[in-house]
Amino acid sequence: FIHLNWGFKPGFGTETKRKAVMDILCKLNLEKHKSKALSLQEVLKISSGSLKEFTPQTWEDLPWHFLRKILALNVTARSTSFKQVVSDDQVLRRNEGNERIDKDIFVTLEMGESHSVNPLDVLCAVLLCSDSFLQQEILLKMSMCQFALPLILPPLMTSKCTLMLWAMRAIVKKWRPHSLAESRGFREDSLVLTSMPTVSFVRMGNCNISKSKVLNEFLSPSQQHNDFFLHRDMEGGNIPRKIADGLVEIAWYFPGGRTNTDLFPEPVAVANLRGDVESHRVQFSFLTQVSSAVFIFAECIGEREYTLLSSLKDLSTLFYFILESRSRKSDSTLEFLNKLAPVIKLDNSHILVKNATMNKAVFVELLRAAIGKIIASKPKCVSIDKMCTTAHELTIQVDEDHKECQDALRCATEISGEIKDVAVYKKETLILQGDLWKNLAKVEKELCRMERQGDMPSEKYRSELRGRWLELRRQQSQCDLTFGLINFIHGIKHLKDLITSSP
Ligand SMILES: *[C@@H]1O[C@H](CO)[C@@H](O)[C@H](O)[C@H]1NC(C)=O
Ligand SMILES: *[C@@H]1O[C@H](CO)[C@@H](O)[C@H](O)[C@H]1NC(C)=O
Ligand SMILES: *[C@@H]1O[C@H](CO)[C@@H](O)[C@H](O)[C@H]1NC(C)=O
Repeated sequence: FIHLNWGFKPGFGTETKRKAVMDILCKLNLEKHKSKALSLQEVLKISSGSLKEFTPQTWEDLPWHFLRKILALNVTARSTSFKQVVSDDQVLRRNEGNERIDKDIFVTLEMGESHSVNPLDVLCAVLLCSDSFLQQEILLKMSMCQFALPLILPPLMTSKCTLMLWAMRAIVKKWRPHSLAESRGFREDSLVLTSMPTVSFVRMGNCNISKSKVLNEFLSPSQQHNDFFLHRDMEGGNIPRKIADGLVEIAWYFPGGRTNTDLFPEPVAVANLRGDVESHRVQFSFLTQVSSAVFIFAECIGEREYTLLSSLKDLSTLFYFILESRSRKSDSTLEFLNKLAPVIKLDNSHILVKNATMNKAVFVELLRAAIGKIIASKPKCVSIDKMCTTAHELTIQVDEDHKECQDALRCATEISGEIKDVAVYKKETLILQGDLWKNLAKVEKELCRMERQGDMPSEKYRSELRGRWLELRRQQSQCDLTFGLINFIHGIKHLKDLITSSP
Protein backbone atom coordinates (compact mmCIF):
# COMPACT_ATOMS: atom_id res chain seq x y z
CA PHE A 1 0.00 0.00 0.00
CA ILE A 2 1.91 2.95 -1.35
CA HIS A 3 0.87 5.61 1.09
CA LEU A 4 2.62 3.95 3.93
CA ASN A 5 5.88 4.92 2.21
CA TRP A 6 5.36 8.46 3.30
CA GLY A 7 6.00 7.58 6.89
CA PHE A 8 2.99 9.13 8.59
CA LYS A 9 3.68 10.25 12.06
CA PRO A 10 0.25 10.13 13.63
CA GLY A 11 1.50 11.25 16.99
CA PHE A 12 3.54 14.07 15.59
CA GLY A 13 2.30 17.46 16.67
CA THR A 14 -0.88 16.13 18.22
CA GLU A 15 0.02 17.52 21.63
CA THR A 16 0.43 21.07 20.34
CA LYS A 17 -2.71 20.64 18.29
CA ARG A 18 -4.65 19.42 21.31
CA LYS A 19 -3.41 22.39 23.28
CA ALA A 20 -4.58 24.75 20.53
CA VAL A 21 -7.97 23.04 20.51
CA MET A 22 -8.31 23.32 24.30
CA ASP A 23 -7.30 26.96 24.06
CA ILE A 24 -10.00 27.72 21.47
CA LEU A 25 -12.66 25.74 23.37
CA CYS A 26 -11.74 27.61 26.49
CA LYS A 27 -11.97 31.01 24.84
CA LEU A 28 -15.27 30.13 23.19
CA ASN A 29 -16.56 28.81 26.52
CA LEU A 30 -17.28 25.40 25.03
CA GLU A 31 -15.08 23.34 27.36
CA LYS A 32 -17.99 21.89 29.28
CA HIS A 33 -19.42 20.52 26.03
CA LYS A 34 -16.36 18.46 25.39
CA SER A 35 -17.72 15.77 27.68
CA LYS A 36 -21.41 16.62 27.40
CA ALA A 37 -22.12 17.42 23.77
CA LEU A 38 -24.43 20.23 22.80
CA SER A 39 -27.76 18.93 21.58
CA LEU A 40 -30.28 20.33 19.15
CA GLN A 41 -32.78 20.75 22.00
CA GLU A 42 -30.34 22.85 23.93
CA VAL A 43 -29.66 25.10 20.97
CA LEU A 44 -33.35 25.51 20.17
CA LYS A 45 -34.21 26.41 23.75
CA ILE A 46 -35.86 29.79 23.94
CA SER A 47 -34.01 32.10 26.26
CA SER A 48 -33.40 35.80 26.65
CA GLY A 49 -30.29 35.33 24.53
CA SER A 50 -32.10 33.64 21.68
CA LEU A 51 -34.87 36.20 21.43
CA LYS A 52 -32.94 39.38 20.96
CA GLU A 53 -31.01 40.16 17.80
CA PHE A 54 -27.59 40.00 19.31
CA THR A 55 -24.23 41.09 18.00
CA PRO A 56 -21.30 39.11 19.28
CA GLN A 57 -19.16 41.12 21.65
CA THR A 58 -16.92 38.49 23.17
CA TRP A 59 -15.43 35.18 22.10
CA GLU A 60 -18.07 33.35 24.12
CA ASP A 61 -20.80 34.81 21.91
CA LEU A 62 -19.31 33.45 18.69
CA PRO A 63 -20.47 29.81 18.82
CA TRP A 64 -23.98 30.94 19.73
CA HIS A 65 -23.98 33.58 17.04
CA PHE A 66 -23.01 30.94 14.49
CA LEU A 67 -25.56 28.39 15.75
CA ARG A 68 -28.51 30.76 15.95
CA LYS A 69 -27.79 32.42 12.61
CA ILE A 70 -27.23 29.18 10.77
CA LEU A 71 -30.38 27.57 12.17
CA ALA A 72 -32.26 30.66 11.00
CA LEU A 73 -30.65 30.28 7.55
CA ASN A 74 -29.03 33.70 7.86
CA VAL A 75 -26.05 33.90 5.50
CA THR A 76 -24.16 36.18 7.89
CA ALA A 77 -23.68 33.15 10.17
CA ARG A 78 -19.99 32.75 9.38
CA SER A 79 -19.02 36.26 10.39
CA THR A 80 -16.90 36.40 13.55
CA SER A 81 -16.28 40.11 13.72
CA PHE A 82 -17.17 41.94 16.85
CA LYS A 83 -19.21 45.01 16.26
CA GLN A 84 -18.82 47.72 18.92
CA VAL A 85 -15.88 46.17 20.65
CA VAL A 86 -15.67 48.07 23.88
CA SER A 87 -14.01 46.19 26.66
CA ASP A 88 -14.60 47.00 30.29
CA ASP A 89 -11.26 48.61 30.86
CA GLN A 90 -11.74 50.80 27.82
CA VAL A 91 -15.03 52.00 29.24
CA LEU A 92 -13.24 52.57 32.51
CA ARG A 93 -10.51 54.55 30.88
CA ARG A 94 -13.01 56.55 28.93
CA ASN A 95 -14.92 57.31 32.10
CA GLU A 96 -11.78 58.43 33.80
CA GLY A 97 -11.47 60.91 30.99
CA ASN A 98 -7.71 60.94 31.21
CA GLU A 99 -7.06 59.93 27.64
CA ARG A 100 -8.18 61.57 24.49
CA ILE A 101 -11.13 59.96 22.77
CA ASP A 102 -9.42 59.58 19.39
CA LYS A 103 -6.73 57.47 20.94
CA ASP A 104 -9.42 55.17 22.30
CA ILE A 105 -10.90 54.80 18.87
CA PHE A 106 -7.60 53.49 17.60
CA VAL A 107 -7.53 50.91 20.35
CA THR A 108 -10.95 49.72 19.23
CA LEU A 109 -9.99 49.47 15.58
CA GLU A 110 -6.92 47.48 16.36
CA MET A 111 -8.81 45.07 18.56
CA GLY A 112 -11.44 44.24 15.96
CA GLU A 113 -9.46 41.68 14.00
CA SER A 114 -6.57 40.49 16.06
CA HIS A 115 -8.87 39.56 18.90
CA SER A 116 -11.31 37.60 16.84
CA VAL A 117 -11.03 34.13 15.45
CA ASN A 118 -11.17 32.55 12.00
CA PRO A 119 -14.74 31.38 11.28
CA LEU A 120 -13.45 27.95 10.30
CA ASP A 121 -12.01 27.56 13.80
CA VAL A 122 -15.43 28.37 15.24
CA LEU A 123 -17.02 25.83 12.90
CA CYS A 124 -14.56 23.10 13.92
CA ALA A 125 -15.01 23.88 17.62
CA VAL A 126 -18.80 23.87 17.38
CA LEU A 127 -18.86 20.58 15.47
CA LEU A 128 -16.46 19.04 17.94
CA CYS A 129 -18.82 19.96 20.78
CA SER A 130 -22.10 18.97 19.09
CA ASP A 131 -23.89 15.66 19.23
CA SER A 132 -24.56 13.87 15.97
CA PHE A 133 -28.11 15.18 15.59
CA LEU A 134 -27.02 18.77 15.99
CA GLN A 135 -24.19 18.17 13.53
CA GLN A 136 -26.73 16.92 11.01
CA GLU A 137 -28.88 19.99 11.50
CA ILE A 138 -25.91 22.34 11.16
CA LEU A 139 -24.73 20.76 7.91
CA LEU A 140 -28.24 20.65 6.50
CA LYS A 141 -28.71 24.35 7.17
CA MET A 142 -25.23 25.18 5.87
CA SER A 143 -26.05 23.42 2.63
CA MET A 144 -29.29 25.41 2.34
CA CYS A 145 -27.23 28.59 2.74
CA GLN A 146 -25.00 27.37 -0.12
CA PHE A 147 -21.95 27.17 2.13
CA ALA A 148 -19.25 24.63 1.51
CA LEU A 149 -19.57 21.75 4.00
CA PRO A 150 -16.88 20.14 6.14
CA LEU A 151 -16.16 16.76 4.53
CA ILE A 152 -13.21 15.81 6.72
CA LEU A 153 -12.56 17.29 10.13
CA PRO A 154 -8.87 17.48 10.98
CA PRO A 155 -7.64 15.61 14.07
CA LEU A 156 -8.87 17.69 17.00
CA MET A 157 -9.10 15.75 20.26
CA THR A 158 -7.74 12.51 18.85
CA SER A 159 -5.04 11.80 16.30
CA LYS A 160 -7.57 10.81 13.66
CA CYS A 161 -9.44 12.75 11.01
CA THR A 162 -13.21 12.27 10.73
CA LEU A 163 -15.26 11.82 7.57
CA MET A 164 -18.59 13.61 8.08
CA LEU A 165 -20.88 11.12 6.37
CA TRP A 166 -23.70 10.84 8.90
CA ALA A 167 -23.68 14.61 9.31
CA MET A 168 -24.61 14.96 5.62
CA ARG A 169 -27.19 12.16 5.53
CA ALA A 170 -30.20 14.46 5.77
CA ILE A 171 -29.31 16.51 2.71
CA VAL A 172 -31.33 15.91 -0.44
CA LYS A 173 -30.62 17.68 -3.71
CA LYS A 174 -32.72 18.20 -6.78
CA TRP A 175 -31.27 18.94 -10.20
CA ARG A 176 -31.86 18.59 -13.90
CA PRO A 177 -29.04 16.84 -15.75
CA HIS A 178 -28.77 17.65 -19.44
CA SER A 179 -29.94 14.17 -20.31
CA LEU A 180 -33.32 15.14 -18.84
CA ALA A 181 -33.35 18.75 -20.12
CA GLU A 182 -35.71 18.07 -22.97
CA SER A 183 -38.19 15.97 -21.05
CA ARG A 184 -38.10 18.61 -18.25
CA GLY A 185 -37.61 15.77 -15.78
CA PHE A 186 -35.41 16.08 -12.76
CA ARG A 187 -33.47 13.95 -10.35
CA GLU A 188 -33.83 14.13 -6.62
CA ASP A 189 -31.51 12.15 -4.45
CA SER A 190 -29.67 11.92 -1.20
CA LEU A 191 -26.48 13.94 -1.51
CA VAL A 192 -24.24 11.30 0.06
CA LEU A 193 -25.59 8.51 -2.16
CA THR A 194 -25.15 10.37 -5.44
CA SER A 195 -22.12 9.31 -7.45
CA MET A 196 -20.35 12.15 -9.19
CA PRO A 197 -16.83 13.19 -10.12
CA THR A 198 -14.91 15.05 -7.41
CA VAL A 199 -12.25 17.58 -8.27
CA SER A 200 -9.91 18.48 -5.42
CA PHE A 201 -7.90 21.61 -4.83
CA VAL A 202 -4.88 21.71 -2.56
CA ARG A 203 -1.98 24.03 -1.87
CA MET A 204 1.64 22.99 -1.80
CA GLY A 205 3.98 25.39 -0.02
CA ASN A 206 3.19 29.06 -0.41
CA CYS A 207 0.94 30.51 -3.02
CA ASN A 208 -0.39 34.01 -3.31
CA ILE A 209 -3.45 33.09 -5.32
CA SER A 210 -6.45 32.60 -3.02
CA LYS A 211 -7.62 29.07 -3.74
CA SER A 212 -11.01 29.64 -2.15
CA LYS A 213 -11.62 32.81 -4.12
CA VAL A 214 -10.82 31.02 -7.36
CA LEU A 215 -13.17 28.18 -6.39
CA ASN A 216 -16.01 30.55 -5.58
CA GLU A 217 -15.63 32.16 -8.99
CA PHE A 218 -15.37 28.77 -10.57
CA LEU A 219 -18.61 27.49 -8.99
CA SER A 220 -20.66 30.65 -9.42
CA PRO A 221 -22.67 30.92 -12.60
CA SER A 222 -22.19 34.25 -14.37
CA GLN A 223 -23.66 37.27 -12.58
CA GLN A 224 -24.55 35.26 -9.48
CA HIS A 225 -21.51 35.36 -7.30
CA ASN A 226 -21.73 33.23 -4.18
CA ASP A 227 -19.10 32.67 -1.51
CA PHE A 228 -19.28 28.91 -1.07
CA PHE A 229 -15.84 28.84 0.52
CA LEU A 230 -14.76 31.36 3.09
CA HIS A 231 -11.83 33.36 1.70
CA ARG A 232 -9.28 35.85 2.94
CA ASP A 233 -11.23 38.95 1.91
CA MET A 234 -14.31 37.98 3.91
CA GLU A 235 -14.98 39.04 7.49
CA GLY A 236 -12.56 37.06 9.63
CA GLY A 237 -11.24 35.09 6.65
CA ASN A 238 -7.76 36.57 6.94
CA ILE A 239 -7.31 35.69 10.62
CA PRO A 240 -4.79 32.85 10.91
CA ARG A 241 -6.43 29.48 11.53
CA LYS A 242 -5.55 27.92 14.88
CA ILE A 243 -7.23 24.51 14.59
CA ALA A 244 -8.95 24.35 11.20
CA ASP A 245 -5.90 23.61 9.07
CA GLY A 246 -6.34 20.17 7.59
CA LEU A 247 -10.08 20.66 7.20
CA VAL A 248 -11.40 19.41 3.86
CA GLU A 249 -14.44 21.27 2.66
CA ILE A 250 -16.69 20.27 -0.18
CA ALA A 251 -19.15 22.15 -2.39
CA TRP A 252 -21.16 21.11 -5.43
CA TYR A 253 -22.27 22.26 -8.78
CA PHE A 254 -25.73 21.03 -9.78
CA PRO A 255 -26.99 21.72 -13.30
CA GLY A 256 -30.45 23.23 -13.76
CA GLY A 257 -31.11 21.84 -17.23
CA ARG A 258 -30.18 25.11 -18.95
CA THR A 259 -28.03 23.68 -21.71
CA ASN A 260 -26.65 27.09 -22.72
CA THR A 261 -25.62 28.45 -19.36
CA ASP A 262 -25.00 25.46 -17.09
CA LEU A 263 -21.33 25.06 -16.29
CA PHE A 264 -21.48 21.28 -16.53
CA PRO A 265 -24.13 18.84 -17.75
CA GLU A 266 -23.95 16.65 -14.62
CA PRO A 267 -23.26 17.33 -10.91
CA VAL A 268 -19.65 17.91 -9.89
CA ALA A 269 -18.16 18.03 -6.39
CA VAL A 270 -15.29 20.33 -5.51
CA ALA A 271 -13.13 19.60 -2.48
CA ASN A 272 -10.81 22.13 -0.87
CA LEU A 273 -8.06 21.22 1.60
CA ARG A 274 -7.20 23.99 4.06
CA GLY A 275 -3.52 24.41 4.83
CA ASP A 276 -0.41 23.01 3.23
CA VAL A 277 -0.47 19.50 1.76
CA GLU A 278 2.86 18.81 3.39
CA SER A 279 1.30 18.89 6.88
CA HIS A 280 -1.88 17.04 5.95
CA ARG A 281 -0.81 14.03 4.02
CA VAL A 282 -3.60 11.73 5.19
CA GLN A 283 -6.18 14.13 3.80
CA PHE A 284 -4.16 14.62 0.62
CA SER A 285 -3.84 10.90 0.19
CA PHE A 286 -7.58 10.51 0.65
CA LEU A 287 -8.31 13.21 -1.91
CA THR A 288 -5.98 11.72 -4.50
CA GLN A 289 -7.80 8.40 -4.17
CA VAL A 290 -11.40 9.59 -4.33
CA SER A 291 -10.96 12.42 -6.83
CA SER A 292 -11.01 12.36 -10.60
CA ALA A 293 -8.45 15.15 -10.65
CA VAL A 294 -6.34 17.05 -8.14
CA PHE A 295 -5.36 20.66 -8.78
CA ILE A 296 -2.28 21.79 -6.92
CA PHE A 297 -1.71 25.48 -6.25
CA ALA A 298 1.97 26.22 -5.86
CA GLU A 299 4.50 28.99 -6.07
CA CYS A 300 7.34 26.72 -7.02
CA ILE A 301 8.09 23.03 -7.40
CA GLY A 302 11.30 21.90 -5.69
CA GLU A 303 12.89 18.76 -4.34
CA ARG A 304 10.38 18.33 -1.48
CA GLU A 305 7.37 18.72 -3.72
CA TYR A 306 8.93 16.39 -6.25
CA THR A 307 9.52 13.67 -3.65
CA LEU A 308 6.01 13.93 -2.30
CA LEU A 309 4.35 13.82 -5.70
CA SER A 310 6.49 11.12 -7.22
CA SER A 311 5.44 8.75 -4.45
CA LEU A 312 1.91 8.98 -5.91
CA LYS A 313 2.71 7.41 -9.24
CA ASP A 314 0.45 4.38 -9.01
CA LEU A 315 -2.69 6.44 -8.96
CA SER A 316 -5.11 6.91 -11.80
CA THR A 317 -5.91 10.42 -10.66
CA LEU A 318 -5.03 13.30 -12.98
CA PHE A 319 -2.81 16.03 -11.57
CA TYR A 320 -2.88 19.66 -12.58
CA PHE A 321 -0.81 22.59 -11.39
CA ILE A 322 -1.91 26.15 -10.92
CA LEU A 323 1.23 28.23 -10.83
CA GLU A 324 2.01 31.88 -10.55
CA SER A 325 3.66 33.13 -13.71
CA ARG A 326 6.92 33.96 -11.96
CA SER A 327 7.35 30.39 -10.80
CA ARG A 328 6.74 28.95 -14.23
CA LYS A 329 9.72 30.94 -15.45
CA SER A 330 11.93 29.80 -12.62
CA ASP A 331 14.40 27.26 -13.90
CA SER A 332 14.25 24.93 -10.95
CA THR A 333 10.44 24.67 -11.09
CA LEU A 334 10.63 23.88 -14.79
CA GLU A 335 13.27 21.28 -14.17
CA PHE A 336 11.22 19.50 -11.53
CA LEU A 337 8.04 19.71 -13.60
CA ASN A 338 9.89 18.04 -16.44
CA LYS A 339 11.09 15.34 -14.10
CA LEU A 340 7.57 14.85 -12.78
CA ALA A 341 5.90 14.81 -16.18
CA PRO A 342 6.41 11.12 -17.01
CA VAL A 343 5.84 10.08 -13.39
CA ILE A 344 2.38 11.56 -12.86
CA LYS A 345 1.56 11.83 -16.56
CA LEU A 346 1.68 15.58 -17.00
CA ASP A 347 1.54 17.41 -20.28
CA ASN A 348 1.33 21.09 -21.14
CA SER A 349 -2.43 21.20 -20.66
CA HIS A 350 -1.94 20.22 -17.02
CA ILE A 351 -0.16 23.43 -16.13
CA LEU A 352 -2.34 26.49 -15.66
CA VAL A 353 -0.49 29.73 -15.18
CA LYS A 354 -1.97 32.76 -13.52
CA ASN A 355 -0.09 36.02 -13.56
CA ALA A 356 -0.84 39.21 -11.71
CA THR A 357 -2.26 41.01 -14.70
CA MET A 358 -4.40 38.19 -15.96
CA ASN A 359 -8.10 38.88 -15.81
CA LYS A 360 -9.76 36.75 -13.12
CA ALA A 361 -12.65 35.78 -15.40
CA VAL A 362 -10.25 34.65 -18.10
CA PHE A 363 -8.41 32.44 -15.64
CA VAL A 364 -11.64 30.91 -14.34
CA GLU A 365 -12.64 30.13 -17.91
CA LEU A 366 -9.34 28.30 -18.39
CA LEU A 367 -10.03 26.29 -15.28
CA ARG A 368 -13.59 25.47 -16.35
CA ALA A 369 -12.34 24.34 -19.73
CA ALA A 370 -9.79 22.03 -18.10
CA ILE A 371 -12.39 20.54 -15.76
CA GLY A 372 -14.94 20.32 -18.56
CA LYS A 373 -12.48 18.13 -20.44
CA ILE A 374 -11.93 15.92 -17.40
CA ILE A 375 -15.64 15.44 -16.94
CA ALA A 376 -16.23 14.71 -20.60
CA SER A 377 -13.67 11.92 -20.36
CA LYS A 378 -15.99 9.90 -18.07
CA PRO A 379 -13.80 9.98 -14.97
CA LYS A 380 -14.38 7.90 -11.87
CA CYS A 381 -17.47 8.84 -9.89
CA VAL A 382 -17.60 8.15 -6.17
CA SER A 383 -20.40 8.93 -3.75
CA ILE A 384 -19.53 10.20 -0.28
CA ASP A 385 -21.07 7.03 1.09
CA LYS A 386 -18.57 4.98 -0.92
CA MET A 387 -15.65 7.15 0.24
CA CYS A 388 -15.88 5.34 3.59
CA THR A 389 -13.78 2.45 2.35
CA THR A 390 -10.90 4.73 1.38
CA ALA A 391 -11.27 6.60 4.64
CA HIS A 392 -10.96 3.41 6.69
CA GLU A 393 -7.90 2.28 4.75
CA LEU A 394 -6.22 5.56 5.62
CA THR A 395 -7.22 5.42 9.31
CA ILE A 396 -9.67 8.24 8.87
CA GLN A 397 -12.61 7.54 11.16
CA VAL A 398 -16.14 7.88 9.83
CA ASP A 399 -18.72 9.56 12.07
CA GLU A 400 -21.05 6.63 11.43
CA ASP A 401 -18.58 4.18 12.95
CA HIS A 402 -20.02 4.95 16.38
CA LYS A 403 -21.84 2.04 17.90
CA GLU A 404 -25.18 3.86 18.19
CA CYS A 405 -25.09 4.74 14.48
CA GLN A 406 -24.27 1.18 13.50
CA ASP A 407 -27.00 -0.21 15.78
CA ALA A 408 -29.56 2.22 14.42
CA LEU A 409 -28.56 1.43 10.85
CA ARG A 410 -28.91 -2.29 11.52
CA CYS A 411 -32.39 -1.81 13.02
CA ALA A 412 -33.48 0.39 10.15
CA THR A 413 -32.27 -2.02 7.46
CA GLU A 414 -33.91 -4.92 9.25
CA ILE A 415 -37.22 -3.09 9.13
CA SER A 416 -36.93 -1.58 5.67
CA GLY A 417 -35.62 -4.87 4.27
CA GLU A 418 -39.12 -6.27 4.67
CA ILE A 419 -40.69 -3.58 2.54
CA LYS A 420 -41.27 -4.69 -1.01
CA ASP A 421 -44.29 -2.60 -1.94
CA VAL A 422 -44.91 0.44 0.23
CA ALA A 423 -48.71 0.46 -0.12
CA VAL A 424 -48.99 -3.24 0.65
CA TYR A 425 -46.58 -2.94 3.54
CA LYS A 426 -48.57 -0.11 5.08
CA LYS A 427 -51.79 -2.11 4.80
CA GLU A 428 -50.29 -5.23 6.35
CA THR A 429 -47.99 -3.77 8.99
CA LEU A 430 -49.71 -0.58 10.01
CA ILE A 431 -53.12 -2.24 10.29
CA LEU A 432 -54.42 0.12 12.93
CA GLN A 433 -53.70 3.12 10.74
CA GLY A 434 -55.50 1.64 7.71
CA ASP A 435 -59.18 1.10 6.99
CA LEU A 436 -60.04 0.34 10.62
CA TRP A 437 -58.82 3.73 11.68
CA LYS A 438 -60.53 5.53 8.81
CA ASN A 439 -63.86 3.85 9.56
CA LEU A 440 -63.50 4.54 13.25
CA ALA A 441 -62.91 8.22 12.53
CA LYS A 442 -66.02 8.30 10.35
CA VAL A 443 -68.16 6.75 13.08
CA GLU A 444 -66.78 9.11 15.71
CA LYS A 445 -67.50 12.07 13.50
CA GLU A 446 -71.02 10.87 12.89
CA LEU A 447 -71.56 10.41 16.63
CA CYS A 448 -70.99 14.14 17.02
CA ARG A 449 -72.75 15.40 13.92
CA MET A 450 -75.64 12.94 13.66
CA GLU A 451 -76.05 13.88 9.97
CA ARG A 452 -77.41 10.60 8.63
CA GLN A 453 -79.88 9.97 11.39
CA GLY A 454 -82.91 10.21 9.06
CA ASP A 455 -86.18 9.25 10.76
CA MET A 456 -84.54 7.09 13.38
CA PRO A 457 -84.96 8.23 16.98
CA SER A 458 -81.75 9.85 18.25
CA GLU A 459 -81.16 7.38 21.07
CA LYS A 460 -81.52 4.38 18.79
CA TYR A 461 -79.26 5.88 16.12
CA ARG A 462 -76.64 6.75 18.70
CA SER A 463 -76.68 3.29 20.20
CA GLU A 464 -76.33 1.76 16.75
CA LEU A 465 -73.31 3.95 16.08
CA ARG A 466 -71.83 3.02 19.44
CA GLY A 467 -72.30 -0.61 18.49
CA ARG A 468 -70.33 -0.10 15.28
CA TRP A 469 -67.70 1.84 17.15
CA LEU A 470 -67.25 -0.93 19.69
CA GLU A 471 -66.99 -3.52 16.94
CA LEU A 472 -64.24 -1.54 15.22
CA ARG A 473 -62.39 -1.08 18.50
CA ARG A 474 -62.70 -4.81 19.12
CA GLN A 475 -61.22 -5.54 15.70
CA GLN A 476 -58.38 -3.11 16.41
CA SER A 477 -57.55 -4.63 19.74
CA GLN A 478 -57.37 -8.06 18.13
CA CYS A 479 -54.48 -6.97 15.93
CA ASP A 480 -51.14 -8.14 17.17
CA LEU A 481 -48.01 -6.07 16.88
CA THR A 482 -46.31 -6.88 13.59
CA PHE A 483 -42.64 -7.73 13.22
CA GLY A 484 -41.71 -4.28 11.92
CA LEU A 485 -43.45 -2.54 14.80
CA ILE A 486 -41.95 -4.77 17.46
CA ASN A 487 -38.53 -4.08 16.00
CA PHE A 488 -39.17 -0.39 15.84
CA ILE A 489 -40.37 -0.14 19.45
CA HIS A 490 -37.49 -2.23 20.66
CA GLY A 491 -35.05 -0.12 18.68
CA ILE A 492 -36.37 3.17 19.97
CA LYS A 493 -36.29 1.95 23.58
CA HIS A 494 -32.85 0.48 23.22
CA LEU A 495 -31.33 3.35 21.25
CA LYS A 496 -32.65 5.91 23.68
CA ASP A 497 -30.57 4.30 26.42
CA LEU A 498 -27.57 4.44 24.15
CA ILE A 499 -28.02 8.06 23.24
CA THR A 500 -28.57 9.32 26.77
CA SER A 501 -25.65 7.34 28.12
CA SER A 502 -23.07 8.31 25.50
CA PRO A 503 -21.48 11.69 24.84
C1 LIG B 1 -29.11 38.26 9.36
O1 LIG B 1 -28.33 38.72 10.42
C2 LIG B 1 -27.94 40.08 10.28
C3 LIG B 1 -26.93 40.39 11.38
O2 LIG B 1 -27.43 40.16 12.63
C4 LIG B 1 -29.18 40.96 10.35
O3 LIG B 1 -28.82 42.31 10.23
C5 LIG B 1 -30.09 40.57 9.19
O4 LIG B 1 -31.31 41.30 9.27
C6 LIG B 1 -30.38 39.06 9.24
N1 LIG B 1 -31.05 38.72 8.01
C7 LIG B 1 -32.25 38.15 8.00
C8 LIG B 1 -32.79 37.82 6.66
O5 LIG B 1 -32.84 37.90 9.01
C1 LIG C 1 3.62 36.60 -2.52
O1 LIG C 1 3.44 37.40 -1.39
C2 LIG C 1 4.62 37.58 -0.65
C3 LIG C 1 4.27 38.33 0.61
O2 LIG C 1 3.25 39.24 0.37
C4 LIG C 1 5.64 38.33 -1.53
O3 LIG C 1 6.83 38.51 -0.81
C5 LIG C 1 5.90 37.52 -2.77
O4 LIG C 1 6.77 38.22 -3.66
C6 LIG C 1 4.62 37.21 -3.50
N1 LIG C 1 4.87 36.30 -4.57
C7 LIG C 1 4.40 36.49 -5.80
C8 LIG C 1 4.75 35.43 -6.79
O5 LIG C 1 3.74 37.45 -6.13
C1 LIG D 1 0.06 37.65 -18.13
O1 LIG D 1 -0.82 36.89 -18.93
C2 LIG D 1 -1.39 37.60 -19.99
C3 LIG D 1 -2.42 36.71 -20.65
O2 LIG D 1 -1.97 35.40 -20.79
C4 LIG D 1 -0.27 38.01 -20.94
O3 LIG D 1 -0.78 38.73 -22.04
C5 LIG D 1 0.74 38.88 -20.19
O4 LIG D 1 1.83 39.20 -21.00
C6 LIG D 1 1.23 38.17 -18.94
N1 LIG D 1 2.02 39.10 -18.12
C7 LIG D 1 3.15 38.74 -17.54
C8 LIG D 1 3.78 39.79 -16.70
O5 LIG D 1 3.63 37.63 -17.68
